[in-house]
Amino acid sequence: MATTTSSAAGTSEGGRVAEEWRARDQRAVAGAYSRYTDLVIEDAAGSYLVDVEGRRYLDFGSGIGVTSLGHQQPDVVAAVHRQVDSYWHTSVVTQHVRLTEAAEKVASICPDPLDTVFFANSGAEVVEGALKLARRVTGRRGLIAFQGGFHGRTFGAVSVTTSKVHYREGYGPLLPDVYLTPYPYCFRTCSHGPEEPCPIAEGRELERLFKHVIPADEVAAILVEPIQGEGGYIVPPKGFLANLRRICDRHGILLICDEVQSGVARTGKWLAVDHDGVVPDVVLLAKALGSGLPLGAIVASHELMDRWPAGAHGSTFGGNPISCAAAVATLEVIERQGLLQRATDLGDRIQAAARRWQGEVGGPRDVRGRGLMIGLEFLDSTGQPDAERVEEIRSVCLSQGLLLLSCGIDDNVIRLIPPLTLSDQELALALEVMEGAVLRGGNQ
Ligand SMILES: Cc1ncc(COP(=O)(O)O)c(C=O)c1O
Repeated sequence: MATTTSSAAGTSEGGRVAEEWRARDQRAVAGAYSRYTDLVIEDAAGSYLVDVEGRRYLDFGSGIGVTSLGHQQPDVVAAVHRQVDSYWHTSVVTQHVRLTEAAEKVASICPDPLDTVFFANSGAEVVEGALKLARRVTGRRGLIAFQGGFHGRTFGAVSVTTSKVHYREGYGPLLPDVYLTPYPYCFRTCSHGPEEPCPIAEGRELERLFKHVIPADEVAAILVEPIQGEGGYIVPPKGFLANLRRICDRHGILLICDEVQSGVARTGKWLAVDHDGVVPDVVLLAKALGSGLPLGAIVASHELMDRWPAGAHGSTFGGNPISCAAAVATLEVIERQGLLQRATDLGDRIQAAARRWQGEVGGPRDVRGRGLMIGLEFLDSTGQPDAERVEEIRSVCLSQGLLLLSCGIDDNVIRLIPPLTLSDQELALALEVMEGAVLRGGNQ
């Protein structure tokens, strides 16, 4: 992850306070915990982060897709306050009502028959849980994941993560019986023509895997991001998920969709799989679910969950009352404010603007995404990934008060993941700043 510096944003004397915090951070915090920018934040409200010197930044990163309602959404704040003044923790010692309510609410946003929930604290934890669930209930060993995927940092999750080798380097041996297969990243890695069907999306590589590497009847699960996130905001061709569903049905394999980043209204539907009408066996949620309070959910049918014996998995903190209260409030706000439609409308406007930049010198070569999960991919004049250009754009934007993140296997994709509550004025401001940065031209 490249760190974009905010120095141009205000090198007033003010810089000194932030510098002092950075020095303290460097002394006290593990270097492995790197940050995307050197901003030092002390406050946040709505779509803005505020640093220790009072500078405001329009937050188009949303804490990596978490604060989808912006910061301090009043109804979520009120629900959390109410819960803080009540009980905080029971763990698995008792049942508690907030967890039951949250499970019902989460089930209500998932397609039938996914109506049963296991709560954990994070994305990686629900990935771990789902891999265990798959092996336990199928009695099979094989786990298939996609190249370029990101599923988290714990041992099981990093074993199925290949968006960057850095995440795996030095940690082996990882979980055995993980098999990797290409993701249909047609813009970069496929050789078929734009109008031709994609063999990867049709499942040809999986057939080869079953023929040469692991028999299909030894595979417990296929784990997939319906839109690849950290790997570059890659939207697969139509039919890809439906083909996975067919392959899984044919061989008794569980289809696990990791919607940790794409779920909870981010793409303009509750789940990204809803765009394709595909129903996975297991859906994984986290990130935006608790609006910033730690919560992850494994969602499956009652029939499947019933095959996972009592006590086969557990968590001290998973589904804590405060996170559950935040989740119920978050989902209610999304419903009440019509944010599925808002995400779609805002996303369409951003993509329309970005497509205008596409034809310009230095503009993105590919514009893609769904709702407010949008990637702009940059290549240099020789067609190679241009991470430098992305860094330059992020840096120019940050100096003008707009915080952007990058992603992609080569860090050459700007990802736009603002709050779904973004106002029209905030959108206009962000587009103006981005346009200025993008159209300054690159070395194309
Ligand atoms: C698709 C996906 N799965 C899992 C994770 C891991 O989530 P966490 O960082 O909460 O462990 C992420 C985090 O970015 C993600 O994008």
